[in-house]
Amino acid sequence: MTSEDRPVTSTLFDRVGLLYTGDPAREEIENAALVVEGGEVVWAGPAGAAPHADERVDVEGRCVIPGFVDSHAHLVFAGDRTAEFAARMAGRPYTAGGIRTTVSATRAASDAELAARTATLVAETLAQGTTTVEIKSGYGLTVEDERRSLEIARRFTEETTYLGAHVVPPDASSADEYVRTVTGEMLEACAPHARWVDVFCERGAFDADQSREILLAGVKAGLLPRIHANQLGEGPGVRIAAEVGAASADHCTHLSDDDVLALSSSGVVATLLPGAEFSTRSPYPDARRLLDAGVTVALATDCNPGSSFTSSMPFCVALAVREMRMTPLEAIRAATYGGARALRRGDVGTLRVGSRGDLVILDAPTYVHLAYRPGVPLVRQVWKGGRRLV
Ligand code: NIG
Ligand code: FE
Repeated sequence: MTSEDRPVTSTLFDRVGLLYTGDPAREEIENAALVVEGGEVVWAGPAGAAPHADERVDVEGRCVIPGFVDSHAHLVFAGDRTAEFAARMAGRPYTAGGIRTTVSATRAASDAELAARTATLVAETLAQGTTTVEIKSGYGLTVEDERRSLEIARRFTEETTYLGAHVVPPDASSADEYVRTVTGEMLEACAPHARWVDVFCERGAFDADQSREILLAGVKAGLLPRIHANQLGEGPGVRIAAEVGAASADHCTHLSDDDVLALSSSGVVATLLPGAEFSTRSPYPDARRLLDAGVTVALATDCNPGSSFTSSMPFCVALAVREMRMTPLEAIRAATYGGARALRRGDVGTLRVGSRGDLVILDAPTYVHLAYRPGVPLVRQVWKGGRRLV
């Protein structure tokens, strides 16, 4: 076998102007190099000191960051809600009720249509630098439609979330009866395809007792809890997250001082979703207050057809910096390392020895440009598991 025929097993990323590692122990390295071998980072350090590799990629002074970890997305659905968005921009408020429009369209779609739509959205996330994405069910709301939503989601990610408790569907005879289905027959059908269980704990969706019951039933079935909490108003969601040991409480837009304390003392990650505030023209969560209290913050897209139809982590980083008083460093950290923490993953969201070789080469000298040059396509190359995909 000649050297050309030999499969490339190691890649040296050389002349990296700035390496953002996401590793709290050594977060940034200037004039760096990185070696990925067998799909994993095996070396990171100063350019010039790197060991030999089969292949060399000259990064030409650009910035390299870990692939984004989008820990909150709803990518299995049909139809869209353009008219609802336009009406909202003309002054109509956002309510949880819009979810039902997408439920009807999703139920009417074939498996092939749903899978094709999900594939398009996943490709969209990848093109914008996301290498790990969480995908929720929640637009089926029957045993079979939730099961097939998760079965489709699993084709694209290990991070699948059972969200049968998104809203009570109009055809349920009562909320109590629907909660029985969600914690019984539907859970049994969905658990084999899911890693996580989630509930929309909000006025108009599920109350404290129902949310607790749904999450604990999921835990009993072997799933890990996470929650949609405190999005539209203050409520019990964050405190339930702490109580059940959820990995993450998502939205966190309206928080009392007790909620902030519950997050900081429990270690529950606060996942902020600024695309939702942007698209519902709502006040943004106060990231500064959370960071100052020592809470771990993640940023995610919440990509869904109702409240946040963006698949772009760079857009969320820009919003977080401009609108949520996060520094560019805090925002990139939240979009990589923070997302990984929200998914309890140690192998992604960082570029340290042992991390998966998931990285983005930015067409910029620093990650600061993600906020400084908003809306500009700065994702130049995306590598996942040591293979170039974009
Ligand atoms: O996270 N909050 C609940 N679920 C979505 C919205 C879903 C929809 O409006 O279709 C969210 O914002
Ligand atoms: Fe959501």
